[in-house]
Amino acid sequence: MQGKISRRNCLAIMGTGAAATTANVSGLFQNQQQQPQFEDVGGDTRAARMKWWHEAKFGMFIHWGLYSVLGRHEWSMENEGIPVKEYEQLAQQFKPKPVPAKDWARLAKFAGMKYMVMTSKHHEGFCLFDTKSTSYCAPKQAAARDLAKEYLQAARDEGLRAGFYYSLMDWHHPDGALCATDESARRRFVDYIHGHVRELCTNYGKLDILWYDVSWPLDPKGWESERMNKMVFELQPEIIVNNRNGLPGDFSTPEQTIRAEQAGRAWESCMTMNESWGYNIGDDAWKSPKQVIRNLGTCARDGGNYLLNIGPEPDGSIPEESVRILSAVGEWITKNGEAIYGTERCQVRRSNIANFTRKGNTLYIHVHFWPGETVAIGGLKNKVKSARLLAGGPPVTVVQEDLRVQFKGLPKQAPGLVPVIVAECEGEPVQDMMVVRKGRKREGV
Ligand code: GLC
Repeated sequence: MQGKISRRNCLAIMGTGAAATTANVSGLFQNQQQQPQFEDVGGDTRAARMKWWHEAKFGMFIHWGLYSVLGRHEWSMENEGIPVKEYEQLAQQFKPKPVPAKDWARLAKFAGMKYMVMTSKHHEGFCLFDTKSTSYCAPKQAAARDLAKEYLQAARDEGLRAGFYYSLMDWHHPDGALCATDESARRRFVDYIHGHVRELCTNYGKLDILWYDVSWPLDPKGWESERMNKMVFELQPEIIVNNRNGLPGDFSTPEQTIRAEQAGRAWESCMTMNESWGYNIGDDAWKSPKQVIRNLGTCARDGGNYLLNIGPEPDGSIPEESVRILSAVGEWITKNGEAIYGTERCQVRRSNIANFTRKGNTLYIHVHFWPGETVAIGGLKNKVKSARLLAGGPPVTVVQEDLRVQFKGLPKQAPGLVPVIVAECEGEPVQDMMVVRKGRKREGV
């Protein structure tokens, strides 16, 4: 199903937190659901290709480009109506310091992120990679070097998986909008875009991810997305691709929201740390480290990944707040990583103070609102055999009744940002989901 989508569907695709950009992109998105008229390219090798990614759980998104020089969000060219000729001048001011990606990769690793995805070209059209097709690229402008190459090297040096974000939509290319109504423009533009994708998949060694973005103004037929994916898999047989060239690809990409797909379909929530993807000097709407940990836990609970963004400054420095947040997340993950990595979908979810993840019969209770010495969970159907604090601490006593299990002997003050109680259960943990339990015994007044 192609064509225009309602504002409601657009919001669902964008996610509720994307309000800041929704006004601009309303109507830009194609329906990203299964499209049976297209071949499922890569379907036969999907499970093997996706294995590392499912284990990884947590990745770093990096939005970096000429918009970083302006420092007013990556959509500023369009949102402020900046003339193309004026905007192009930024390419003369974008002169990053030597290899900032080393710092990104080090921080990503410390934060427990296992992979990185950097914008190789955002909607503005400026390429951070070397390309034969335009001089509007970092090596041929003031930066005078291939920023995609040094980013990949930095990620590899830290043992991280890495890939490229690539925006199909292009505000700079003369055919970027014309392609929708003029067939010869479409031919030229699709060749240009496919050419970039080919260069990215040919000139940088092994890539782990290709993360397409915004397919406006064409549909997958117009983009020749099936041919695009076939080329990508020919050049990079082990790569994984997302669903934003209009085809389902290997995984879905809920944005600024956490929305699980049906079991069997992979998904990754991408999110900003404040409200902007690109550097936005005045945006101080930072998430707390606790919120980030909660989001990561929710993604893991529902079988998805979390791709969390940094928007480096024009010289490549990571905004101080992002360093602070990710450092705190890293401290948490160092002690509590077991509750994230290797976890499977978890049915248990009912609590006003805690989140849950699961591995086999082990239930991890992530207590974000610490209540004091006793933590209670309702409706758990399994017997809890034993419990302990994941990061260490006093022994935990389990008191279990019909509807309630209580974990007692806990410290009065929260021992850490989001302490995790590990409960060993008999069987795979399952919770009753009755909002109000009709059948429970009631006493008269
Ligand atoms: C949206 C925005 C874009 C951002 C992307 C990240 O498509 O247009 O600025 O790069 O989401 O998912």
